[in-house]
Amino acid sequence: MTTAHPPIPKAELHLHIEGTLEPELAFALAERNGVELPYASEEELRRAYSFSDLQSFLDLYYALMAVLRTEEDFADLANAYLARAKEQGVRHAEIFFDPQAHTARGVPIGTVIEGLGRALDAAQETYGITTRLIMCFLRDESAESALETFEAARPYLDRITAVGLDSAEVGNPPSKFREVYALAREAGLKCVAHAGEEGPPAYVWEALDVLGVDRVDHGVRCMEDADLVARLAVEQVPLTVCPLSNVRLRVIDDLADHPLPAMLDAGLLVTVNSDDPAYFGGYAHDNFTAVRDALRLDQETLRTLARNSFTASFLDEATRAAYLKEVDAHGR
Ligand code: ADE
Ligand code: ZN
Repeated sequence: MTTAHPPIPKAELHLHIEGTLEPELAFALAERNGVELPYASEEELRRAYSFSDLQSFLDLYYALMAVLRTEEDFADLANAYLARAKEQGVRHAEIFFDPQAHTARGVPIGTVIEGLGRALDAAQETYGITTRLIMCFLRDESAESALETFEAARPYLDRITAVGLDSAEVGNPPSKFREVYALAREAGLKCVAHAGEEGPPAYVWEALDVLGVDRVDHGVRCMEDADLVARLAVEQVPLTVCPLSNVRLRVIDDLADHPLPAMLDAGLLVTVNSDDPAYFGGYAHDNFTAVRDALRLDQETLRTLARNSFTASFLDEATRAAYLKEVDAHGR
């Protein structure tokens, strides 16, 4: 009997937990909570997963969150993700969540954090996956709303490793959130931000210079600015690239044209991630195999991407070193 090769060990650093809501779980939670969905079946919902840009995706992404109401719902969502992540070789996951998308619907922030926390607390034992939580602010909401959200999260900061910035990018530059990022850093949190997905290279500069981010999420549009590429390479600022997402949201026309190889050649610390895998057609390893096939990446390049994922993580040094050893030993 032959056994398939296990997927290479990797860290997932760009993953919206709400973007892991599969149609099957959405319908189960809708039933449990008495929420009516505007789709007759899972198949009909799946047929709506055809996007023209980031906003067309976000409209569906926020609408479907209506089914997430209780601590148990958030725990179930995170457990479903972790079970899939394990199958994909994910050994460490740094997970985004969007508190404002839930508090705006009357779900208390404590319900969200305690629910996710319940699943993450058991993740090491149940799935062999270490985890961190990253609280994102919705950039199309006001700076005041981000500040209120941060204050509401203060009692739970021991569960949160970093703050992030997501949602509709164009017209909502990083500098809008200078104040809340300063507070987060004062509180000892790490900082990341989506920048250079649909937005221009100037937004990546702002994320670095105004917000002081430790990583840039997406960042693919940095390739339009040679000075920016040089800065990112010299400082080894990690970029959490999401190839299947880029194609589905039409940031890139075709996976075969993805700038990932050029980014690696430029000396950037690039990682490969899944973003919203329930919507974009693949989890972490699916993204690895998709870029391998479309861009003809060799085994050593895949190993570099896996190593980068741990290098770019917020893990303690001892755990990082142990995971890097696992990558080096993989397939040898
Ligand atoms: N929220 C969930 N996925 C996102 C993405 N790809 N860009 C911005 N905000 C998001
Ligand atoms: Zn994202």
